[in-house]
Amino acid sequence: MTTILTTGGAGYIGSHITLELLNSGYDVVVFDNFHNSSRKSIERVSRITNGAPKLVEGDIRDQAALDALFASHKIDAVIHLAGLKAVGESVARPAFYYDVNVAGSTALFNAMLKHGVRHAVFSSSATVYGEPEIMPIEETTATAPVNPYGKTKLMVEQILTDITGIGEGWRSMVLRYFNPVGAHISGQIGEDPLGFPDNLFPFIAQVATGRREKLNIFGDDYPTPDGTAIRDYIHVMDLARGHVKAIDYLLSERAENNQTPIVNLGTGNGFSVKEVHAAWQKACGFNIPAEITARRDGDVTIYCADASKAEALLGWKASQGLAEMCEDHWRWQKANPQGYS
Ligand code: NAD
Ligand code: UD1
Repeated sequence: MTTILTTGGAGYIGSHITLELLNSGYDVVVFDNFHNSSRKSIERVSRITNGAPKLVEGDIRDQAALDALFASHKIDAVIHLAGLKAVGESVARPAFYYDVNVAGSTALFNAMLKHGVRHAVFSSSATVYGEPEIMPIEETTATAPVNPYGKTKLMVEQILTDITGIGEGWRSMVLRYFNPVGAHISGQIGEDPLGFPDNLFPFIAQVATGRREKLNIFGDDYPTPDGTAIRDYIHVMDLARGHVKAIDYLLSERAENNQTPIVNLGTGNGFSVKEVHAAWQKACGFNIPAEITARRDGDVTIYCADASKAEALLGWKASQGLAEMCEDHWRWQKANPQGYS
């Protein structure tokens, strides 16, 4: 069996990737300290798949814990998701973000070097592009992150690219996600944000269950057809399938040694906040209260991927549309109004 380590594998995206890897015939070891996740996600993945990912609890900055992990499991490749992802928190606590996201990644790469594991996929973010003027965004678009979170992601991309270039048979890939949303069709696993949700889908989901009074639509004076900002939302299961394709690629003869291709994972289609709100109401079958408020600081008008490289390199293309994203996110939230707790 080929064994994949998912760091952060108990989290929102990691749990869906873990599930999809198991369904694709891989063995999976999850490494997570549950800073922003629950063991229940992994219990549920086991239930859904009839597979059993191994779970190792530990902090990604703990070099000794990582050494022990690699010493006791035969790992063939790593998908590195563990980290912190809240933009606002990264501005308030930059040292914490650099420590977990950057120092945590170098601890992981050091352990991989020591134990001869040479295949890594890194979870990066489209946020590394900053505020580009030309849409859609290609992988060659200049990077210019505007907050500490985005800067940590770009630094780790560069560190991994340098390590992969050393010439010992390393092969890596950087995946830059656009806006992951939705949930597995079972409704058993999904996004469970701690505290106040910053992002659109989890916020609407909480309004729909009555945890929040109404959606605030941040600005309707953008230069778009309906005045609200446009994003490239991608179903988390499409994203998970993209990771399986990335692992298949790195473990195949197609991959080139010492290279770290960068690949956007998005649909290439944008939807406005008003379109998302309407799709959610259709998925739920009832009215979701909303009000137009001021723009949110730092928001851009439109952010969409050129997703053609993923198709050319990996043979992967997103297949799920906005209706499925809302229906699946709603199925999860309705069945689990308080998330995993
Ligand atoms: P998440 O918070 O649900 O998952 C991250 C996981 O990492 C959690 O399970 C958390 O407990 C774990 N973790 C945090 N600190 C850790 C530490 N010190 N040691 C070990 N584990 C630790 O977030 P997610 O949305 O699933 O994101 C996963 C990855 O994808 C992150 O690296 C994030 O930056 C990246 N990403 C996410 C998005 C998004 O919109 N969700 C977009 C682009 C990129
Ligand atoms: C956020 C992150 C970004 C990350 C991306 C992908 C911030 C500031 N940025 O960006 O780093 O890469 O997610 O996950 O968190 N909106 C509302 N009302 C709300 C929430 C959002 O109108 O309550 C609007 C926003 O103004 C935006 C759209 O919905 O136009 C999407 O917002 P969000 O889900 O936060 O994603 P991004 O802004 O793309």
